[in-house]
Amino acid sequence: METREAFVLWKRQVLILFVLLGLSQAGPELVRYSVAEETEIGYFVANLARDLGLEVEELSSREARVVSDDNEKHLHLDLLTGDLLLSGKLDREELCGSKEPCVLHFQMVLENPLQFFRAELHIKDINDHSPTFLDKEILIKISESTTTGTTFQMESAQDLDVGSNGLQNYTIVPNSHFYIKIRDNEDGKIYPELVLHRALDHEEEPELRLTLVALDGGSPPRSGTTLVLIKVLDINDNAPEFPQRLYEVQVLEDTPVGSWIITTSAKDLDAGNYGKISYTFVHAAEDIRKTFEINPVSGEVHLRLRLDFEVIQSYTIKIQATDGGGLSEECTLLVTVIDINDNPPEVIMSSITKIIPENASETLVALFSVRDQDAGENGRIVCSIQDDLPFFLKPTFKNFYTLVSEKALDREEKAEYNITITVTDMGTPRLKTQHNITVLVSDVNDNAPAFTQASYTLRVRENNSPALHIGTVSATDTDAGANAQVTYSLLPPADPHVPLASLVSINADNGHLFALRSLDYEALRAFEFRVGAADRGSPPLSSQALVRVLVEDDNDNAPFVLYPLPAQGGRAGLTW
Ligand SMILES: *[C@@H]1O[C@H](CO)[C@@H](O)[C@H](O)[C@H]1NC(C)=O
Ligand SMILES: *[C@@H]1O[C@H](CO)[C@@H](O)[C@H](O)[C@H]1NC(C)=O
Ligand SMILES: *[C@@H]1O[C@H](CO)[C@@H](O)[C@H](O)[C@H]1NC(C)=O
Ligand SMILES: *[C@@H]1O[C@H](CO)[C@@H](O)[C@H](O)[C@H]1NC(C)=O
Repeated sequence: METREAFVLWKRQVLILFVLLGLSQAGPELVRYSVAEETEIGYFVANLARDLGLEVEELSSREARVVSDDNEKHLHLDLLTGDLLLSGKLDREELCGSKEPCVLHFQMVLENPLQFFRAELHIKDINDHSPTFLDKEILIKISESTTTGTTFQMESAQDLDVGSNGLQNYTIVPNSHFYIKIRDNEDGKIYPELVLHRALDHEEEPELRLTLVALDGGSPPRSGTTLVLIKVLDINDNAPEFPQRLYEVQVLEDTPVGSWIITTSAKDLDAGNYGKISYTFVHAAEDIRKTFEINPVSGEVHLRLRLDFEVIQSYTIKIQATDGGGLSEECTLLVTVIDINDNPPEVIMSSITKIIPENASETLVALFSVRDQDAGENGRIVCSIQDDLPFFLKPTFKNFYTLVSEKALDREEKAEYNITITVTDMGTPRLKTQHNITVLVSDVNDNAPAFTQASYTLRVRENNSPALHIGTVSATDTDAGANAQVTYSLLPPADPHVPLASLVSINADNGHLFALRSLDYEALRAFEFRVGAADRGSPPLSSQALVRVLVEDDNDNAPFVLYPLPAQGGRAGLTW
């Protein structure tokens, strides 16, 4: 309560004081004191009464008091002792900011009579503030191509203290790439500048975290820090790089379309667009572009078209990787096509004789060549025919073979041969091709007609009617065609007295024998002759057979008297 009353009173008197201040000159005496800021309340500054040459008793009687220029009650005058004491903590920074020296002006006022004494209290700075940065983190983007020596302005720290307690120095840790250059400004302040002294490399260190330390000059010094985050901006200083210059891959010929072949993947140390790689075929011939495709983003190579070892055995493909900045590199992809046994062997007939004469030895039937478009074992061929045939294969020139009959053939035994030429390759699986040839054996007249019997016996009853068919001879010829066409004939009788031509005749075509006239047992009981059968070959072959004709008796004669002789024609008597 007391302080409140005192305060009200003091306030009123201050008003008066100011009025008076405006009017009257204060006394000439100026006393100076100093005190460190933040000193405890009640600190003894000085004995003001003594310093001003006043009696202590006067102070109470004349209502002495101290009044600060700023109306704040920093000081207290002990009226009993005349001691000037601190009545509050003094904060230099609050009172004076950055102004130096920091002086608190106050007066001691006495009444009856009114008297002023001017005094100053110097408030000495203590190092009670650390340097501080407004931002806890500072971001700086620096291109990796920046040359050393380049400087970057940095935000400065604040230290409310002054003089040597104020900001004195900056450092940066670590200082691998940068150091701090202190720049003095016209206003007496110092500013830090970041100086690059070792080139940055985005690929090595895309960002750096540094600590900027601001130091004041106090004892001990105080410091403040801020994080400096340096983003190293990439420039396209790296071309894409393939891990290998040559890729080799073997691809089976029958690899399905769309299959993945290989991935050629380049690396680019640059970031962002400069590190973005696209892949293309370069200087690629039409066949490469048709057969393969590359994914521009992933570098994967796929098959677009079926491979054919028989057409192209290998492809040399140049692949280019280009980054977003246009730098590029090439690698080579060697695709070797591996043959698979996809081609059956082939038989190519050069000449063929479909009909060979019988009885001719080693006759050429066919001349042919074989081939297989596959490689290696897949293209190695063996050639055979059935082994139960009188033919054989004879390898001739290169891949030519002849098919030859091994001995004289006999048409009559076998007139037709079906020959299967089998060509097989040695691949896996084995492929084979067959070629059928039908060989006909043509006839040679090597067989004479043969009679069914070596001799024929025909019986004819006498008195036959003329031109009676009395029997047949028959001969067969195993040859064919004209060589087998038999013609029959009567051969001249051994006994020239036999009137054969008047007795019998033979049908040349079918061997039927006819009696030309009525035979008379009593006159001719038997006779014989030879028949011939000839074929129409060239030259013709023939054979013979014996024909015996027996005339059988008929009861055509009545008993008769040998003498006298009976009359002619009596024979026409009785018949069956
Ligand atoms: C500032 O600090 C650096 C490194 O700590 C030191 O080399 C330099 O002498 C200091 N400068 C001042 C003005 O104290
Ligand atoms: C045919 O074979 C016969 C024997 O059977 C022989 O006498 C003849 O000379 C052969 N002909 C040819 C053309 O070889
Ligand atoms: C030969 O083949 C043909 C047709 O396949 C057939 O008609 C004929 O009987 C065969 N000949 C032989 C002797 O196997
Ligand atoms: C060849 O003949 C064989 C045996 O007669 C038969 O199995 C095959 O199908 C024939 N091949 C051709 C191409 O006619």
